[in-house]
Amino acid sequence: MVVIANSRFVSLRLRVVVVSACYRIGFIAGFSILALFITSQHIRQETVYLSNHNADSESSVFSTNKNTGYKVNHLNTSAKLNSTYHVIKSMPNPICKEKKTNVAFLKVHKAGSTTVMNIFLRYAVGNDLNIVLPKRWQGNGFNYLGYGKTLSRKNIVPLPSNETYNILCNHVIYDKNAFDDVMPPDSTYIGIIRDPASHFISASVYYGFYRSLKNVLFHRNKLNFKDFNAKNENVLSEFLKNPGDFRNVSTAFVRNRMSYDFGVNPLLFNNKNFIDYHLKQLDKDFKLVMIMEYFHESLILLKRILCWELKDILYVPLNINSRKIDLSLSTDDLQRLKRWNYADFRLYNHFNNTFWKRVEKEGATFHEEVNHFKEVQKKVTVFCLNLDQSRFFFVEKSRWNNNFTVVREDCVFMTLKELPLIKHLIISAWGKYYSWLGYQVKDKTSSQTTTNTAMNINLAHVPFVIQT
Ligand SMILES: *[C@@H]1O[C@H](CO)[C@@H](O)[C@H](O)[C@H]1NC(C)=O
Ligand SMILES: *[C@@H]1O[C@H](CO)[C@@H](O)[C@H](O)[C@H]1NC(C)=O
Ligand SMILES: *[C@@H]1O[C@H](CO)[C@@H](O)[C@H](O)[C@H]1NC(C)=O
Ligand SMILES: *[C@@H]1O[C@H](CO)[C@@H](O)[C@H](O)[C@H]1NC(C)=O
Ligand SMILES: *[C@@H]1O[C@H](CO)[C@@H](O)[C@H](O)[C@H]1NC(C)=O
Ligand SMILES: *[C@@H]1O[C@H](CO)[C@@H](O)[C@H](O)[C@H]1NC(C)=O
Repeated sequence: MVVIANSRFVSLRLRVVVVSACYRIGFIAGFSILALFITSQHIRQETVYLSNHNADSESSVFSTNKNTGYKVNHLNTSAKLNSTYHVIKSMPNPICKEKKTNVAFLKVHKAGSTTVMNIFLRYAVGNDLNIVLPKRWQGNGFNYLGYGKTLSRKNIVPLPSNETYNILCNHVIYDKNAFDDVMPPDSTYIGIIRDPASHFISASVYYGFYRSLKNVLFHRNKLNFKDFNAKNENVLSEFLKNPGDFRNVSTAFVRNRMSYDFGVNPLLFNNKNFIDYHLKQLDKDFKLVMIMEYFHESLILLKRILCWELKDILYVPLNINSRKIDLSLSTDDLQRLKRWNYADFRLYNHFNNTFWKRVEKEGATFHEEVNHFKEVQKKVTVFCLNLDQSRFFFVEKSRWNNNFTVVREDCVFMTLKELPLIKHLIISAWGKYYSWLGYQVKDKTSSQTTTNTAMNINLAHVPFVIQT
């Protein structure tokens, strides 16, 4: 055990090197917002503006918050308050004492996690909870809490010192200690995974891996023009036969990516002892690892574990891959993939087992509740996608819920695009923080780029314009 723990420690240090070598994605250099903090003592009484240039078309659903003493871009508060987030009381539930509000959700890539993230963000906004958010709100990969890195307080929007973070649901690499440093001790940890074969295919297409392979094969005269434009199962097959032959194609998003998100160091992807050990750790840390293939079942488990209500877990499917190419793997290729993505297959088998054991424990009512949920969710999706013109959708009381209505504003939130939503939440969180520091925070309506020469910061990249 000691040896394994040691190797885990070593691996953390190595990760930095390996990962920065593996991931060749350059980010726009982050500005140093710290400069603002350093000078903040001298300019406390000045006015701080929120910059809202590059406003997205989605911003019509955001408005000025009239309830608080400061003006920030905020989700339409009247819409929020008039929906039923605050109204519905939980149905009596023997295993449920009170709704859990501190949750860390590990947003694993390409595993249905964008949809789940929207559920968590909707819950957080509806209940005025603090979200763990990255500091930047624009630029390549701004929505990551850590890109190939775990969580760190220095990379997230700070909070007033008398408050705690409640909800974490942006991309970041899992590490127990780092999460403990940010999230309250009573937080519930939730993850999500997907069948590793379909994950591999989906990620290959989505992140351009498939296309890069095609290019290589084409240049090696293994594909002709006709093949190049057709969907081509041989592409992945050629790769799986000999991954070492494609060294210049990045495998960052297709090689054990789920395990990587769950904190497995690439050097240990094939290390059986480490994987055994790590899975045991994850078992202790995570209350639930959802399974994308059993999405409705997963959400009902989530609802029961967090003591949430039916309305809280409703969703409209998001980020479904539009670049979808229907590829499949032959039996031989699947065997090869199982070796190449050993860690992910172990991860999946392990949590698929614990998932169904857990479902069994829930008893017969579980499947009834799942079926009821599926029915409601389907109708809500139809309502939200405007196929039904009515103003609201009424859900009758059942064994699992009190009656409630879904209004158009709920639909708006459920169908918001991830990036504009995150951007607005980040700006709003900065507004709250600066307001707590004693600034007057105001919307900046001008779209001009201003440079404050005294502070030598290009304010185009800074949310707050400090008037001097
Ligand atoms: C906010 O929501 C209310 C109630 O749904 C609506 O009347 C109003 O137009 C919305 N405001 C904006 C800016 O979307
Ligand atoms: C929101 O609800 C309150 C109280 O129920 C009501 O007074 C107000 O008019 C509603 N606002 C909108 C925009 O529907
Ligand atoms: C934190 O303190 C501020 C005043 O500094 C107060 O307005 C706010 O309500 C406090 N938050 C909590 C959660 O107590
Ligand atoms: C990778 O290297 C091969 C030669 O080994 C070359 O044919 C191919 O174009 C390269 N692909 C990329 C994406 O650079
Ligand atoms: C997950 O576990 C269930 C129950 O043991 C099994 O029927 C199913 O085939 C497993 N799914 C996959 C994709 O392995
Ligand atoms: C919804 O539930 C509330 C209380 O739980 C009840 O007063 C109301 O009549 C119900 N509405 C409908 C339309 O059933």
